[in-house]
Amino acid sequence: MSQKAQIGVTGLAVMGRNLARNFARHGHTVALHNRSYGRTKELVEEFGHEGTFLPAETAQQFVESLERPRRVVIMVKAGPATDAVIDEFAPLLEEGDMLIDAGNAHYADTRRREAALKAKGLHFVGAGVSGGEEGALHGPSIMPGGPKESYDALGPLLEDIAAKVDGEPCCVHVGPDGAGHFVKMVHNGIEYADMQLIAEAYDLLRQVGGHSPAEIADIFRSWNEGRLGSYLIEITAEVLKQVDAATGKPFVDIVVDRAEQKGTGRWTVQAALDLGVPVSGIAESVFARAISGGVPERTAATEAGLPGPSAGGEHVGGDLTADVEQALFASKIVAYAQGFQQIQAASKEYGWDIDPGAMAKIWRAGCIIRAKFLDFIKQAYDKKPDLATLLADEYFLDAVSGAQDAWRRVVVTAAQQGIPAPGFSSALAYYDSLRASRLPAALIQGQRDFFGAHTYQRVDKPGSFHTLWAAEGRPEVDA
Ligand code: 6PG
Repeated sequence: MSQKAQIGVTGLAVMGRNLARNFARHGHTVALHNRSYGRTKELVEEFGHEGTFLPAETAQQFVESLERPRRVVIMVKAGPATDAVIDEFAPLLEEGDMLIDAGNAHYADTRRREAALKAKGLHFVGAGVSGGEEGALHGPSIMPGGPKESYDALGPLLEDIAAKVDGEPCCVHVGPDGAGHFVKMVHNGIEYADMQLIAEAYDLLRQVGGHSPAEIADIFRSWNEGRLGSYLIEITAEVLKQVDAATGKPFVDIVVDRAEQKGTGRWTVQAALDLGVPVSGIAESVFARAISGGVPERTAATEAGLPGPSAGGEHVGGDLTADVEQALFASKIVAYAQGFQQIQAASKEYGWDIDPGAMAKIWRAGCIIRAKFLDFIKQAYDKKPDLATLLADEYFLDAVSGAQDAWRRVVVTAAQQGIPAPGFSSALAYYDSLRASRLPAALIQGQRDFFGAHTYQRVDKPGSFHTLWAAEGRPEVDA
């Protein structure tokens, strides 16, 4: 009987190629397919020594080389290309076979695809894969959704290639249909927020502290040894240490200051708005990227000479570097608390039954937001799976309350010296909103009732009410 592959990968650009190599390195026979067969041949020529590959020139050959239930990993650019590959392969598959979309698909597309393929007796697994090209090869964090029964046949293979922490794979069945891609999307949203907060910390240390990029690299390197230890902090030190070979200037100074985005952070905010979850940290990070790319507005502002204070003044009340570390950690906690709240809200909305502690657990390695403090998030949800906000967990409450004086000093300094810190300041506003005994939303309810008769509730008795604002004496009536 000709040799069969346990898993197949179609789409052999770098991510797909590295996933295929990772499966082969773990002893699995891997079927290969790519639109251009040349790339398939190149992979085998260059990496054939790493394991057993079954290169296929056609989709038919590819499918025939797979053992049952067939497991086909799709690694193409999310969008219409994914549908095209599904349309090509689905007719060749049989009952119980599975298609695994490892791209950054939108979870709503995954839910649609999963339902359509289920009707044909096929499994469709939307799997978030985080860690970039290096992660795909050496161990990503994997967030598979789809039917639980397909995870029984697929999970062991994914867990083999996933990153490990204390021998535990950073891969778990997230939940049905689009749950995996939803969690990956929120991972990316948190990634955006984390990157924005790090950028604000750098900006303050540069503009207020007067530190050079190389000095700030050293500060980040020292922070990476402590509670902020994470992949993003680690690579920030590397980026800030980099000197541009062509000019001898700090690399960060020769890069155009316009941040781009492929869209997953934006999706996160759109989904949060629909769920009614205030992911202000993620939203501010998406807006900050948009502002940075807003050339017409920025040019107009410069030409108009928008006035404001100059930076470089004194940071009053504390050591700037120590205060920025505190502000960064507190704001990061807020951003993660919001992201996990969004996952819990979606899990409830879609009936996914996602375990937030398990998500923190599989994010401890392999993914872009991997960080030491995810252990504490896991512990918080293991203690109380229905925790309404991470900020109410003892560890995080202590961390944020201990940081808040420094955090407030940093937000004051940024405002007084005209340095934009939307991440730090919105996180502080979120924190103060959560802990406020009374919010000015009462006035907003009054305004809404005045102009739109939208009614309001009273603090002293149940029910809804409306005031007849135009009537004599403005009497209140039951709504
Ligand atoms: C990951 C990354 C990756 C993502 C880019 C997004 O988890 O490996 O999040 O999936 O595609 O990092 O980059 P943008 O900043 O362009 O959205």
